[in-house]
Amino acid sequence: MNILEEFFTLNNGVKIPKIGLGTWEIEDNNVENVIKEALEIGYRHIDTAQSYGNERGVGASVCEAMQKSGIARDKLFITSKIRAEYKDKKSAADSIDTSLKTMGLDYLDLMLIHSPQPWKSFRNGDYFSENVEVFSALEDAQKSGKLRAIGVSNFLKKDLENIFKHCSIKPAVNQILTHIGNTPFELIEFCKSQNVLVEAYSPIAHGELLKNSKIIEMAKKYNVTPAQLCIAYTLAIGTLPLPKSKTPKYIKENTEINFTLSNEDLESLKKIDFKDYGEHSRFYVFGGK
Ligand SMILES: NC(=O)c1ccc[n+]([C@@H]2O[C@H](COP(=O)([O-])OP(=O)(O)OC[C@H]3O[C@@H](n4cnc5c(N)ncnc54)[C@H](OP(=O)(O)O)[C@@H]3O)[C@@H](O)[C@H]2O)c1
Repeated sequence: MNILEEFFTLNNGVKIPKIGLGTWEIEDNNVENVIKEALEIGYRHIDTAQSYGNERGVGASVCEAMQKSGIARDKLFITSKIRAEYKDKKSAADSIDTSLKTMGLDYLDLMLIHSPQPWKSFRNGDYFSENVEVFSALEDAQKSGKLRAIGVSNFLKKDLENIFKHCSIKPAVNQILTHIGNTPFELIEFCKSQNVLVEAYSPIAHGELLKNSKIIEMAKKYNVTPAQLCIAYTLAIGTLPLPKSKTPKYIKENTEINFTLSNEDLESLKKIDFKDYGEHSRFYVFGGK
């Protein structure tokens, strides 16, 4: 299979390319080069966020791709995320307009609530009414054509149920930490049962999984790289991988997933426990406080 030519269909009928390029920690002044490379390789799906500080560069590369490479806007899929700290309708709505302006785009394909809580309170407190407000700003923006699809990120079952109960549009996506060794199986099953697509962020554990001996060993068996094994796993469990790399060789390698894991190997990968993010443990998403 050529993963670059495959799609998932979101619950509102919008098609989303099956792999996206993550851009967290790619500086604004470098992201244009990285995306240019990725588009040449064949990526059409780019994941950014207001908090990554590179929306300008992501937007500029999209505009350049349209003008210079003749890639039609409707062949590209661009995601951003509302800052976790914006928890009222006005700041959320204003931030959507600011993202569009910063990126120089008329619309985004997908916009998410970055986290149910502001980062400093990650996993502390419900913020139910606040998230309903932010989601209603997303609903308005989808209705007015500024966004093609809307969703959430880092949402647990209770956070999703709150949105289902109080909002009129169902989130199309829940983007969550998902990789070998740290896979929220119950949450993924719940999302699938609700027709909410799960996007797997940090599919190679921010790079830390590449040092794991079991993964290195199994990758050798399939004659692939550890990163390819990690990405194949996220696909095998029905999630959409968002690997990040700024290295051209890796950006390409991460799309060459021309093998299928045996059931036995998939089951053994599901049993691995790996939550040691080393120096990256300071980040809230990896358990940092
Ligand atoms: N919603 C959220 O809260 C959230 C949180 C975290 C991440 N995300 C999204 O998910 C994306 C991916 O997650 P991530 O950035 O944490 O990390 P990741 O994709 O799990 O890992 C990225 C690291 O792996 C390295 N790498 C990538 N491919 C490789 C390969 N083939 N061989 C060797 N090394 C390779 C990269 O190196 P180089 O870059 O140096 O090449 C980088 O150091 C983010 O960029 C972001 O878009 C979302």
